[in-house]
Amino acid sequence: MRPLSLEAVDFLVSQKAQEELRLLKPAGEPLRVLAGLRRRWSADEAAWLYDQALLRRRAAAKFSEADLMLFEGEALEQASSEAVAAWRARELLAPYESVADLGSGIGGDAIAFARAGKEVLAVEKNPLRAAILRYNVAALGLSERVSVVEADWRDLSFEQRVVFADPARRKQGRRSVRLRDMEPPFEDVLALSERVEGLLVKLAPALDKDEVPAGASLGFVSLRGELKEALVGLGSLARKTTWAVALPAQACLQGPEFPAAAVSAPRSFIYEPDPAVIRAGLLHKLAARLGAAQINERVAYLSGDECRNDPLAGCWRILRHAPYRLKTLRGWLNELGPASLDVKRRHNPVDPQELLKRLPQEGGGRRLTLFLTRLRGEPWMILAEKPQS
Ligand SMILES: C[S@@+](CC[C@H](N)C(=O)[O-])C[C@H]1O[C@@H](n2cnc3c(N)ncnc32)[C@H](O)[C@@H]1O
Repeated sequence: MRPLSLEAVDFLVSQKAQEELRLLKPAGEPLRVLAGLRRRWSADEAAWLYDQALLRRRAAAKFSEADLMLFEGEALEQASSEAVAAWRARELLAPYESVADLGSGIGGDAIAFARAGKEVLAVEKNPLRAAILRYNVAALGLSERVSVVEADWRDLSFEQRVVFADPARRKQGRRSVRLRDMEPPFEDVLALSERVEGLLVKLAPALDKDEVPAGASLGFVSLRGELKEALVGLGSLARKTTWAVALPAQACLQGPEFPAAAVSAPRSFIYEPDPAVIRAGLLHKLAARLGAAQINERVAYLSGDECRNDPLAGCWRILRHAPYRLKTLRGWLNELGPASLDVKRRHNPVDPQELLKRLPQEGGGRRLTLFLTRLRGEPWMILAEKPQS
């Protein structure tokens, strides 16, 4: 994929390019699709169209109306998923009618704020992204609510009482989780809290919690079991305590964490806590909510006598458990008949991919899950399956 240029964006926003993009489905052999495009367009135009069609297809995982939007590769990667951005706009910024979105990229958050009915000041310093942002906002019919400004927000004065900032997490093209590597630097973002009533900053979930300033709250968001982001809140957007939320269920757990959880050998069911709960350090509290115990103080698997249906944890019925031995596992699988196997791992050195290569791949039949973990100081395995609902 070639880097976009302003010339490319000028072309892509034209009506003739949009008409071509509407029909262009980049299925099939790339060279043949490109050769087809080259009959009607210059080499550059054909490549821009083709790349954009690929980006739209990739963007469909994040945006329900990706087919109406334009993208740039890295900005798409950095963009918030629609489901997460919509939840934030609705739940965290509910009391505010207007928000400044500083560093808007191609518009993942600005669009969500506008759809939640807010007036948005969307500031983006990269001219290419600002042009795409302007296009996307118009294509989705949101121009009346979103003012796009191409500028470095540090040079701007604005009137909004609350700010959302999603600093870029890359330094010299490489991803970083260190707050000092943010672009713009985290101290510039934090300084905003002197100027506004509330500040919400989206950060990498792998951030170093010690870098979060005193007085700020910290929360973690997952979407369909995948950890997506950390959110630091200041001023009116700070919460009293650390929190975790699992989307799309919007299940939430708030601190403070309990000092400890019960510990017991695996019982009838095993729970895998949502990664937002684990990252927020609220495992003991989740254990209490589920009436479950940790299988080991150092492992984030819980176990209980019943299976509580809770969006903050997956639950499986335990079929067998024992110290990890390949021979024993093969014997279990033999007894249980044809099955497909998922492998999950915590505190266990066995490589799931390598293990799967050494097991018969029956497929079909039951869907089993193997938890590789550690118990009583040795590698342990727990074979389980989802209970019938
Ligand atoms: C992580 S992206 C934002 C993604 C956006 N929230 C979304 O969901 O699409 C960060 C953006 O901030 C922009 N940026 C970084 N520093 C900036 C500054 N000082 N002023 C304006 N924009 C800035 C970058 O160009 C980048 O596009």
